[in-house]
Amino acid sequence: MNRSFIKVMICSFFLIAFSCREKQDEKHDSPIENAKWWKEAIVYQIYPRSFKDSDGDGVGDLQGIIQELDYIKSLGVTAIWLNPIYTSPNADNGYDVSDYRDIMKEFGTMADFDSLLAGMHQRDIKLVMDIVVNHSSDEHEWFKQSRSSRDNPYRDYYHWWPAEKGEPPYRYSLFDAKGDAWQYDSITDAYYLHYFAKKQPDLNWSNPKVRQEVYDIMKFWADKGVDGFRLDAFQFAAKNTTYPKFPDGFESDFIQYYAMQDGLHGYLKEMNEEVFSQYDVMSVAEGAGRNFEDAHKLVDQNRNELNMAYAFEGVDIPKYEGYDLKTMKDVFTKWDKEFAEDGWLSIFLANHDQARMVSRWGNDSDEFRSASTKLLNTFILSMRGTPYCYYGDELGMTNIDFDSISQYQDIAAINGYQKAVSEGEDMELFMKKLNFGSRDNGRTPMQWNNSEHAGFTNGKPWLPVNDNYVDINVEDENADQNSVLNHFREMTRLRKQNPVLVYGVYELVAPEHPDIYAYTRILDDKMALILLNFSEETSEIKLKDEWDNHSILINNYSDVEFFENSVKMRPYQAIIFNIER
Ligand code: NOJ
Repeated sequence: MNRSFIKVMICSFFLIAFSCREKQDEKHDSPIENAKWWKEAIVYQIYPRSFKDSDGDGVGDLQGIIQELDYIKSLGVTAIWLNPIYTSPNADNGYDVSDYRDIMKEFGTMADFDSLLAGMHQRDIKLVMDIVVNHSSDEHEWFKQSRSSRDNPYRDYYHWWPAEKGEPPYRYSLFDAKGDAWQYDSITDAYYLHYFAKKQPDLNWSNPKVRQEVYDIMKFWADKGVDGFRLDAFQFAAKNTTYPKFPDGFESDFIQYYAMQDGLHGYLKEMNEEVFSQYDVMSVAEGAGRNFEDAHKLVDQNRNELNMAYAFEGVDIPKYEGYDLKTMKDVFTKWDKEFAEDGWLSIFLANHDQARMVSRWGNDSDEFRSASTKLLNTFILSMRGTPYCYYGDELGMTNIDFDSISQYQDIAAINGYQKAVSEGEDMELFMKKLNFGSRDNGRTPMQWNNSEHAGFTNGKPWLPVNDNYVDINVEDENADQNSVLNHFREMTRLRKQNPVLVYGVYELVAPEHPDIYAYTRILDDKMALILLNFSEETSEIKLKDEWDNHSILINNYSDVEFFENSVKMRPYQAIIFNIER
């Protein structure tokens, strides 16, 4: 293509969409070395409490998900990660399990689970379960037994510190209102350990009986046919409970002291032998350790531990004060490079522990919400690593605007507030930060249509629906060819049709560009060029001569403006070019 004149190339979005659809069902028989279904998977994360309520109690449930399986299929995703659905008193919305072999009452029954799994498999969608075994609920039978007497057979299922030994060595709790991870229990005059809330006592992984219990639980679900496990907080499972003192202030960098303690890799190898190697299941760890070396030890193929991990450095970038694109490029690029040869990672910008993607990474104003969400979805679905897309981000759902602590439901927000008050923090600033970053932002009910409660429930939703459901919802976006939703579908189609987007080598382009994140993906003779303008201003980027022969695979605007040998990108414009080589 001759780019020596100023020209505006109007590319028909509809034409592209049409040609994509034609190829939709083409299969690719991957000639790629080390190709795996879980590398090619596109995972859709569902927070069941907030997805769809079928019985009017205001809480999402399994029947609700079943009702929407065709919608989920229509997204082009190939797997679902379900946040915990086990019996739980819900101190931390299911991350406090009191029975690992049964379904939370609000969510339904085991029969509902079986029909959900069958319905998913009929549609070629895989299921990844959340396995929460760093801790259980204090209402789990194991803990009830354990706390009942010092010589109970379950005593060593948890970490206890007898009071006669004096105060236990200080440990920080992420969710405790006082920040103390040791809870005194008068029944046996001893303290138990809880890195999270006091209703989440930590399991003692050095006890082989605990490990065997967990493997049996995982086999129970694998025998039912689930396709993968996400290991919650597992990097903390091995613990150093006795080292007398961590340095003052260690809690601000607790990962350095809590993650990857002695024994952890042994447990993972054992779990791999007992469970993962016996089934065709994928495994992903929450957390990738303290550094690259830790992360490699978790996921490198020859280690026989896990398939992949979520590294948090990326998702921790956006702050209430904003973030710098250069940092984003540096972080995502260095993680990609580090795992280019061995190991595999997840790619995500949001989950149930984060505020909404577009409100943190993009621009949720009326003017730019749609374009910037499309840009972020283009990013997630064109990077190397298994993409995890959080429910509602396919629509551009945004943060909700809570201004009083009484509106929050999340234990981390409520206890964090109490701790901040007792420590005399600047509460105005605290509330602003909470408003920006609280997990409740990411947990508001799914917006299905513009009827009352966004079609999520006939009852009173457990967490308020965002008022913007009247504009941002599935029904309206289905009908709009240019919606965020239909763009998302195009992106999943593209990723599935183009192995270069899954396996291609990633190379950052124009690292110093302040507005545009540009990179190439190359696989054999295939090359894709991805241009993402992260700014609300028009911005230009030069194309290299060798990219002269290009065509557009996807674009979140209806045209592309070329200027001499540059592309003039509109605010939040996101384009993927196919480059002929
Ligand atoms: C990590 C989970 O993602 C989070 O939601 C939960 O609160 C903690 N682990 C404790 O289980």
